[in-house]
Amino acid sequence: MCGIVGYVGNKNAQDFLISGLKRLEYRGYDSAGIVTLNGKGRATLLKVKGKISGLETKVAKNKTTDKIGIGHTRWATHGEPSELNAHPHKSGKIYLVHNGIIENYKELKAKLKSSHKFVSETDTEVLVALVNHFYSDGKYPLSNAVVQALKLVHGTYGIAVVSELNPNEIVVARSGSPLVIGIGNNETLIASDASALVGHTKKAIYLNDGEVATVTADSIEIKTLNSQPVSAKVEAIQTDLSAIQKGGYDHFLLKEIMEQPSSLTETLRGRINREEHLVHLGGPKLSDEELKSIKHLIIVGCGTAYHAGVLASYYIEQFTPDISIEPVMASEYRYRHAHVPENSVALIVSQSGETADTLACLRDLKAQGVKTIGIINAIGSTIAREVDGGTYIHAGPEISVASTKAFTSQAVAMIMFGLTVAEAKGVKNSLLAPYIDEIANLPKAIEKLLKNAPESVKNLAKRYKKYDHAIFLGRDVAYPIALEGALKLKEISYIDANAYPAGELKHGPLALVDDRFFEFVFLPENNLYDKTVSGIQEVLARGGHVIVITDADDFSLPVESVVKITTKMKIFTPILMNLVAQLFAYYITVAKNYNVDQPRNLAKSVTVE
Ligand code: M6R
Repeated sequence: MCGIVGYVGNKNAQDFLISGLKRLEYRGYDSAGIVTLNGKGRATLLKVKGKISGLETKVAKNKTTDKIGIGHTRWATHGEPSELNAHPHKSGKIYLVHNGIIENYKELKAKLKSSHKFVSETDTEVLVALVNHFYSDGKYPLSNAVVQALKLVHGTYGIAVVSELNPNEIVVARSGSPLVIGIGNNETLIASDASALVGHTKKAIYLNDGEVATVTADSIEIKTLNSQPVSAKVEAIQTDLSAIQKGGYDHFLLKEIMEQPSSLTETLRGRINREEHLVHLGGPKLSDEELKSIKHLIIVGCGTAYHAGVLASYYIEQFTPDISIEPVMASEYRYRHAHVPENSVALIVSQSGETADTLACLRDLKAQGVKTIGIINAIGSTIAREVDGGTYIHAGPEISVASTKAFTSQAVAMIMFGLTVAEAKGVKNSLLAPYIDEIANLPKAIEKLLKNAPESVKNLAKRYKKYDHAIFLGRDVAYPIALEGALKLKEISYIDANAYPAGELKHGPLALVDDRFFEFVFLPENNLYDKTVSGIQEVLARGGHVIVITDADDFSLPVESVVKITTKMKIFTPILMNLVAQLFAYYITVAKNYNVDQPRNLAKSVTVE
């Protein structure tokens, strides 16, 4: 949510700031700005409402040779997207960019009104005014002023601050919102996400909560808010440039959907022993005894990560009969007074590893003594660093706001975790073997589907793009796929899509069936096949416009559209069906000419509550 960049060195700062912001644009894209300093008391502050491309045009008309600056791409929290509300914000000689939310901004604003003329509606302007208050026009070091200000602030922040009076240094700090410092040759780079640094340096320091750093072109000094020096760990940035580029695709979303055979292969790498039908996950760091003693599994996530948890829970309970599994939405769970039974373990699921609600649940559960296991994609992210153990899904960077490849890898990683629990509990290998076989074959099955499905799904999408409403239906393991399919469609095509278990139709949703709706039904050939077919018949009897996705050869109801999936898979066909839904959402959005990768009002990585 929002992106921060900063540069100090011997190259053109505007160039890095714009290229860095373009990389971070998926994190927020309603307004943007940069400021650079010429070292002689002149600052060039440029802001736009809208995309980075607009800022780029403005910069081209206001080119400087400045070697230091900070920038920001915004996802609005306080105040509408506008040039006035865009960052950097200014007070006196100071400029500041901020990710996060200052919760006590109103009371601070009231105190600062006499010394600072507020021009925006943002909480960030309060922070820069506060820093300036302690800076006293350069009487005190900038880092001291930042620390004094942050001590008064409640909320979350990742910030970068520069002063016209100290044109060689940037002060950065974090609490609950990530910040990375890239170490270059006579240059230091700042970003809220390491992807902005790729291609510039491979060496990075990830700031921890409560730390403040003062960086120049050739020095980095890190302290805690209580002035304790911190000796930082320099880590390697593992992402390469190709992973964050479109690689010939029109959109990141299509690239990420099509990448799933390889991204899932990475999730499985070294973790499955096909011959002996065993799963090995080193990361969770649980002994056999600890695995055996698990009685209750809580799966925490938001959005797609939550849906992956729901799907995994349906599977895990099939082969691990003596544990109860509770997938929970982090935004709800954090405020519930849930009773956590003895011998609980929590899976904390997040693609970005930065989602505020998920992080809050992780911290609460840890405080209650529950063992937490991360199912995370972004390496080095906050959640990945705070969990007791974890399994990276290794799906590679996911840039499109709509999450696709992460879902598949998250679900499979959690099912593999379930299998390790089952193995430790002594569940018969003959019961687990079919699951392990199918997981091992899943990348190939996905590859086959992605070779054949896109053209027909594209045509299907053209046919249904005129609708404003959709109902997604499925039962049992197909129900979480309905949830996920509906989320994907509404998120990028703005079609009002809701999901129901097919067995719930008669309890209300059937009343919706009319010519404004189409019904998207997932129909795997399993024990509930006939029951779902009955549901479809009830919809057809009321004139529904039904699309069925099925692997059943003999499906013959007179529905409007059918997508047949030819596969040897029996257990994990719903995962294949989900890919059809992903493609459907993609092609409908393209047909409607909407922004596929950056849907309105949203941003990747929800680091605010
Ligand atoms: O980074 P996370 O996996 O924690 O993100 C969770 C949700 O914000 C995310 O899955 C969101 O629902 C996606 N935009 C869905 O496509």
